[in-house]
Amino acid sequence: MAFNVSLSQVTHQLAQLKNALNVFTKAPQKFSLVGSANVSMGVSMSVGAMAVASAAYSSAYAVHDNNNNDDGSLHGFGLGGGHFRALFDHSTFAMSALIGTMCAVNTAKNDARVHPPSAVDAKANSDDDDDTSKAQPQPQPNKHRGGSSSALVELACQYPLEIAISTVAAIISAGASLLHPLVVARLFAVAGTAAAAARAGFPPIAPFVAVAAAFLGLASLRALAAYLRHMAVRRVADHLRLRLFRKLIAHTDVAAYENPIGRHPSAREAWPRLAHAAGEVAKAMCQTLSSALADVTQILGATMALLFISRAMVAAMAGALPLGICAGLAAAEVARRARRSQVQMDRANDALAGEMCREYKAVRAFAMEEVEANRYASRGDTARARFLTATSPALSSAHATIGFLNAGATVLWMYLAATCATSGSADGCAAATDGAVPLANVTRYAQTIAASAASLSASQNALLVGEDAAREVLASLDMPCEIERESPPASSRTAASLPPAGNNVNFPALELRDITFSYPSAMALPGSSGSAPPALSDITLRFERGKSVALVGASGSGKSTVVSLMQHFYDVDHGNVMINGTEIRNIAPADVRKSVFVVSQDSILLPGLSVAENVAYGQEARSGVAPTLPDVWEACRRACANDFIVRALPRGLETVVGFYSGTSPDDDASALAGISGGQRQRLCLSRAFLAAMSDPQHQPSVFIFDEATSALDAATEARVSSNIRKYICESTNAACVFVAHRLHTITEVDEIVVFDNGFVVERGTYAELMKKSNGRFAELARKQGLSL
Ligand SMILES: Nc1ncnc2c1ncn2[C@@H]1O[C@H](COP(=O)(O)OP(=O)(O)O)[C@@H](O)[C@H]1O
Ligand SMILES: [Mg+2]
Repeated sequence: MAFNVSLSQVTHQLAQLKNALNVFTKAPQKFSLVGSANVSMGVSMSVGAMAVASAAYSSAYAVHDNNNNDDGSLHGFGLGGGHFRALFDHSTFAMSALIGTMCAVNTAKNDARVHPPSAVDAKANSDDDDDTSKAQPQPQPNKHRGGSSSALVELACQYPLEIAISTVAAIISAGASLLHPLVVARLFAVAGTAAAAARAGFPPIAPFVAVAAAFLGLASLRALAAYLRHMAVRRVADHLRLRLFRKLIAHTDVAAYENPIGRHPSAREAWPRLAHAAGEVAKAMCQTLSSALADVTQILGATMALLFISRAMVAAMAGALPLGICAGLAAAEVARRARRSQVQMDRANDALAGEMCREYKAVRAFAMEEVEANRYASRGDTARARFLTATSPALSSAHATIGFLNAGATVLWMYLAATCATSGSADGCAAATDGAVPLANVTRYAQTIAASAASLSASQNALLVGEDAAREVLASLDMPCEIERESPPASSRTAASLPPAGNNVNFPALELRDITFSYPSAMALPGSSGSAPPALSDITLRFERGKSVALVGASGSGKSTVVSLMQHFYDVDHGNVMINGTEIRNIAPADVRKSVFVVSQDSILLPGLSVAENVAYGQEARSGVAPTLPDVWEACRRACANDFIVRALPRGLETVVGFYSGTSPDDDASALAGISGGQRQRLCLSRAFLAAMSDPQHQPSVFIFDEATSALDAATEARVSSNIRKYICESTNAACVFVAHRLHTITEVDEIVVFDNGFVVERGTYAELMKKSNGRFAELARKQGLSL
């Protein structure tokens, strides 16, 4: 019966909700989180309020039906068991409405956006792995910059399970709080009974045990709610971190990644902040939001309880409510703006200081420590001055306003409660009771409302922090992603499995046909008009099996860019890259990387892995067989790395690379600091020797050495180069590509390609190029003291 009464009103309320949504979507300016959260909260609260009103109706019926007020009722409140069932039904409904409204408002606003749905929208419910929806990695303008829709709500909609868990937590904790006054009232009743029992000569202990059990039950409910919230927070935080980790690892061009807060110079610097932001998001989403829901429920529940005591009192508060909400919203918006601009300034300073600390050697080398310290201090002075003159006044007055509103509301409640309690049933006070209302009971509910309202405004602050973090997280999840994530579609991946090296003799191992390419980041960089000249123009190159090619040219001429394109780290703007006759876009990236082996110019060792694991990195995935230690050792020997491994590394091949060793705290063999550039380069070269040792089916079809011996001394370079020729170029059927500065190392290659400013300007054998005495190559060679 309770449901029947409320149904028509709820329908009416839903219609109003729909109207409100229409207004939102048509609104020209977008909403901030606090704006949308509050507006939707307001809408939901009105739904909830209507639900409460209908609960009141149903309760009135219940009172009517149960005039005898049996065990289930409490005399001081005039509330029967039926009332509380109704209360819970309706507050649950109100909370669902709250979540639903927030998601609906957010979705409506997303749909209304000018640009097409982003990857995050598309994959709201799926992991990043199976995201194949984006066709091209376009650098997107950051849609969360500058305060548009709520990033927090957008992320929350991606975690329905965790939101449900924290909603359950909210219901439980609100239920416990609302039950508390009733249990206290019961305590008095039972105490009275106990006294009577004692007078009658019975042991008075039993009622107290019951009361204790009741309190224990309430405490357990609260503990359960806390546990559920922790679980939800942890799940969301961990999953967000995993997604961010995947993103940063697969990201095309972290160097050019900008987010609303600032530029991240590298993934390494982005990570700690993003990991922290993920935690903040999770907390805001599953803890703050949940406690806000609990607060709303408590306000509704307590309001309902008071409704039975004094309708006039509730009406007076409801009249003041819109004013309070508007003032609260305005104050929160002021706080949000002040906070954000200060955070931007502080973070920029922090980032600069961090980068300076990283470059400490240069600072010291130029004896600039004092100058840098002064520069740091003066930036701090500027930031502090701004904080004290603008940010802090804005924040404090906003908080004061919210505090004042809360205090005002509390005073009003107290006044009304006191009036009601002392005046008996004058204005409908205690309508459902049969006498004066104990002041303590009224004020308890009034206090609940005031406390919940105060805690709501505290939540609002925490939501601001969460929203900032959510923007950062979303911006990072929106970053243009590595090609791996976008193409090719799963179907063509399986269709175009790579022909093994050497099988398809009709095609070169790798071919670039008429390539033109610009870095996506060069177009996205602030200040660039997008018209930077391409990094490569009209490049056509063939890398035949069993042949070797050298790419030479000044730095910045485009050699490493060619290497990146050969690994399909980027899509070309024009032309084709073919591996064994197959267009590279149709080959799964992992297969491309198995086929094209690169020793890059930055000698990278992976931290937390031993030297042996570093040398064997990726080898098992490529060949399907884990390399044996003797193989690893042999590869190191060929790269001339064996000497120093024995001599300089504390645990030889087992030495763990990196400043922290990961698993066990006593494992302190951090060797990275002690490995020189040349030694690292030799370890990276060992990987190529190891790859060349796998069976012919699993050998790469192209080996690329991008200035891979540049840090070696002349004698070692000669030995390693000769080993590369012998153990890689001659004993596998692969194409060998050398990117070289020192031209004496490439006298024997089959073809030399000379780059200049992204163009191929000359090509031929060493002898041919040296003959063109005024050619670019001959000029370079002369500068290095080489002659034919
Ligand atoms: N990740 C990148 N983002 C934007 N521009 C880049 C990037 N890497 C290289 N470039 C630019 O592309 C051009 C070619 O660079 P690169 O291929 O590294 O030259 P090389 O290896 O011949 O020294 C240079 O102008 C360089 O500044
Ligand atoms: Mg280079």
